[in-house]
Amino acid sequence: MYGNDFTAPGTQTATASAAEPDLEDFQRIIDADSRVEPRDRMPEGYRKTLVRQIAQHAHSEIIGMQPEGAWISRAPSLRRKAILMAKVQDEAGHGLYLYAAAETLGADRAELLDMLHDGRQKYSSIFNYPTLTWADIGTIGWLVDGAAIVNQVPLCRCSYGPYARAMIRVCKEESFHQRQGFEILHTLSHGTEAQKAMAQDAVDRWWWPSLMMFGPSDDQSPNSAQSMAWGIKRFSNDELRQRFVDMTVPQAEALGLTLPDPDLAWNEERGHYDFGEIDFSELFEVIKGNGPCNAERMAHRVRAHEQGAWARDAAVAYADKHAARRAEAVA
Ligand SMILES: [Fe+2]
Ligand SMILES: [Fe+2]
Repeated sequence: MYGNDFTAPGTQTATASAAEPDLEDFQRIIDADSRVEPRDRMPEGYRKTLVRQIAQHAHSEIIGMQPEGAWISRAPSLRRKAILMAKVQDEAGHGLYLYAAAETLGADRAELLDMLHDGRQKYSSIFNYPTLTWADIGTIGWLVDGAAIVNQVPLCRCSYGPYARAMIRVCKEESFHQRQGFEILHTLSHGTEAQKAMAQDAVDRWWWPSLMMFGPSDDQSPNSAQSMAWGIKRFSNDELRQRFVDMTVPQAEALGLTLPDPDLAWNEERGHYDFGEIDFSELFEVIKGNGPCNAERMAHRVRAHEQGAWARDAAVAYADKHAARRAEAVA
């Protein structure tokens, strides 16, 4: 409905309804590392996979505003408040780029939101955990945004052009988010005993859910192979998880905080850190809706959506008025 950076909305349904391209031709384009653009013909499965992934990503960005937004009014200083507000606004912006990217595939933004609200589409399970103390804000920035970066940097090379380009900007902002989280934790872990204990407690609670952000292990991730073949996904869940662990362990040492895993140890032979077994039954429970904050997050989102209806109506009325004036001027 509103113009965006990617393409004019009117052209998109044509793409969606275009005949299937020759699959071998399409695969050759992917294998040559070319980008697929909104007006290009694409297999329906490719389009659907992307819409689902981009929508889930967009939903995660805007639901992710809630656990941190809860601390804006309680930030310990004006400086911390200003930084946190900027960070939460960035996440709204990420949602915006991503809904716009989904629209280039013929998806309707209002419909995607309906699907989020009635549970047909998901968002990242990590946002179903509560933010109990100020240290959780540091930990989310450090671990959750850190994991998001590891997931999203390869998406900058995703075969679908609008998604890949949106990710470049998102990753730059995520890098700021990760550093601000690290800096909060660094201050706490070098503060009083009580502050250090608060930081350690937050890390203890967020570490395992952060590892689960990469999804189930490769043998339990049936759609991964097709996404890899299509150049949507570049690395497997387990590869990305390992990369995150390898990146994070030295940072935890710099913070003077312990990661809650007795099996965490450098493996000289593999050139990676070994880590303990992940209890994925927790992830599957949270996905099913049984996490600590699922109901609260959805109730808040639906309420915010209903309360914002007047703003969407006003924007449409304003756009219609100006379109009518332009038409009059042309006539
Ligand atoms: Fe984000
Ligand atoms: Fe972020």
